[in-house]
Amino acid sequence: MHFSPWFATSLPRGGSVAERSPSHGLLSATERHGVRLELDGITKVYPGQEEPAVESVSMAIESGELVCFVGPSGCGKTTTMKMINRLIEPTSGNILMDGEPVSLLNPHELRRRIGYVIQQTGLFPHMTIAQNIGVVPRMLRWPRRRIHARVDELLALVGLDPGRYRDRWPAQLSGGQQQRVGVARALAADPPIMLMDEPFGATDPLTRERLQDEFLAMQRRLGKTVVFVTHDFDEALKLGDRIAVLGDRSRIIQFDTPGQILTRPADAYVESLIGRHAGIRRLGLLTVSDTPLLPVSGFLEPSVTVDCTLREALDAMVRTGSRRVAVMSANEVLLGELDFDTLSKAIMRERGDG
Ligand SMILES: Nc1ncnc2c1ncn2[C@@H]1O[C@H](COP(=O)(O)OP(=O)(O)OP(=O)(O)O)[C@@H](O)[C@H]1O
Ligand SMILES: [Mg+2]
Repeated sequence: MHFSPWFATSLPRGGSVAERSPSHGLLSATERHGVRLELDGITKVYPGQEEPAVESVSMAIESGELVCFVGPSGCGKTTTMKMINRLIEPTSGNILMDGEPVSLLNPHELRRRIGYVIQQTGLFPHMTIAQNIGVVPRMLRWPRRRIHARVDELLALVGLDPGRYRDRWPAQLSGGQQQRVGVARALAADPPIMLMDEPFGATDPLTRERLQDEFLAMQRRLGKTVVFVTHDFDEALKLGDRIAVLGDRSRIIQFDTPGQILTRPADAYVESLIGRHAGIRRLGLLTVSDTPLLPVSGFLEPSVTVDCTLREALDAMVRTGSRRVAVMSANEVLLGELDFDTLSKAIMRERGDG
């Protein structure tokens, strides 16, 4: 690969961009992390349409949580996102940021607090890469030198050499590079909320996996509140703290953790998303704490901790030839036992058990 890893290497551990660099000012403690986002019965009927594009959607996204939206084309994912930052006004319903209705915030204030990575990158073709990334800082009237420094910092962050790319036009970049510039632009003012509409859609599978890994590493440090739209269910499983599976009009079919969705899909549609290899997927995503434990029978070897994945528990069984493992808490208290049958049931998803 010709680019250096982005996000992962460019930020020091435990510090947001704002904390690290004096060049772009300090943000309050709440800005450094995410904010809680609540959609309260939002509906959108586009002018001239009879059917709503989005109907009565309610959900809460916790501060610092990364929520993936997955759903069929045209189900209203982009519309829902654009209502969060008021690019589209809802026909009815409210959106709250830390309890504050976004309808009461002035749009400049709102855009400062919400980074938006638009579907199909949406770079302004008549602006250079540097000008594209500097859009929000310019809106915030940062001094020119501070914008310049921030642009270079962000280009490095997304793995693009500033000297090489800052003065190019978007058309002179590959699709994947343009998407990274889109992410840099959304991060420019270090917003606590990021709305990302299929941000890695235009990249080949390898690049995409790398972007995902590095984005996850960044997210672990920065802890933003992220809404991430994807068509790729594997991407949702990998990135999402929770996944909202949406149907027509953004109706919420299921909103839960990857582990719960894999083990207890709400309906046939969710099941179809999981598709083949479901058991293998569950193995790596479920932890021992997701399964019912058997009472202690005096068994001590092998042992696993309760936060191990089922894959690790299975590895322990395979390694030792035992059909049973002892389960310990983090502070080494014996909690119970897990046997092979319980483990197989958990990955084969027996509805209603445990
Ligand atoms: N400006 C508009 N005027 C009228 N209808 C619109 C408008 N924008 C979108 N729609 C309709 O609203 C519905 C939801 O569109 P939206 O773009 O939110 O879907 P999406 O879930 O993001 O789809 P995709 O996965 O293809 O990006 C679609 O039926 C679309 O045709
Ligand atoms: Mg869309």
